[in-house]
Amino acid sequence: VKHLLGIKDLTAQDIELIFQTADNFKEILKRPIKKVPTLRDTTIVNLFFENSTRTRISFELAEKRLSADVVNFTASASSVKKGETLIDTVNNILAMRVDMVVMRHSASGAPHFLSRHIQAAIVNAGDGINEHPTQALLDAFSIRERLGEIAGKKVAIVGDIMHSRVALSNIYCLKKLGAEVTVTGPPTLIPPYIAEALGVNVTYNLREALQWCDVANVLRIQLERQNSPLFSSLREYNLVYGVSREVLDSLQKEIVIMHPGPINRGVELNSDVADSGQSIILHQVENGVAIRMAVLYLLAGKRGEIVSGN
Ligand code: CP
Repeated sequence: VKHLLGIKDLTAQDIELIFQTADNFKEILKRPIKKVPTLRDTTIVNLFFENSTRTRISFELAEKRLSADVVNFTASASSVKKGETLIDTVNNILAMRVDMVVMRHSASGAPHFLSRHIQAAIVNAGDGINEHPTQALLDAFSIRERLGEIAGKKVAIVGDIMHSRVALSNIYCLKKLGAEVTVTGPPTLIPPYIAEALGVNVTYNLREALQWCDVANVLRIQLERQNSPLFSSLREYNLVYGVSREVLDSLQKEIVIMHPGPINRGVELNSDVADSGQSIILHQVENGVAIRMAVLYLLAGKRGEIVSGN
């Protein structure tokens, strides 16, 4: 595999290999010397055309822990603002002998388009409303870590399914690994074809989904991707679909709470849940570094060559 464009392209065996590689990196990241020399002499550009905190820092840390040379590109401070095209931008960067491109773009399919025009390996760090593959990998890795395995587990994906690349990549990943998936949220935020197209259950009743699941992955309401307000107020959304302490306490079981970040606190998730012992949100963020190290390492063609710094 040369690129990581989406989970859709991966097999369950590919995902297991990424997890096993990430297990090794996670052990190395606990040591005083976290750096390994495996990607020395590899140059990686982080090409972000959309805002990011977690994904961008996580990739940069992963690259630096692997001893790669790292270049960060922010579209808002670049010649893109003077009208330069995506292909010209990337070809100019590649002319400086860059080996890999990590790319986030607001257009669905932008990394796929680029992969047909350039030689370097591309990692999709989120493309529009299509996929966010490394987020799904770190989410599934975090479920595996907390619950021991993914096959047979019940995962509810909550909220803005329609505009979420995290939802789509999670559905592909969890289904490939044998989990059952239910999506829940307002009918206006759930594509009507999703059950048939992707083999998930759909309910518009939040409590029903939470009572059913082992894990709830609560998604951010993507206000920037919505053309018209879907609820009269975010407070109204919170009252009907917000995951609150009161809702969780009404269940007959304790479930694991996840969120990819950034959280709209008091909208899709209340602070007394986000910051509670049921939440593994910061473990997801921690696992993101090991997962991204594994992806970069495997895409660079490395196998069984992790050399520890101590
Ligand atoms: N989860 C995620 O993609 O967060 P960022 O947008 O901050 O990268």
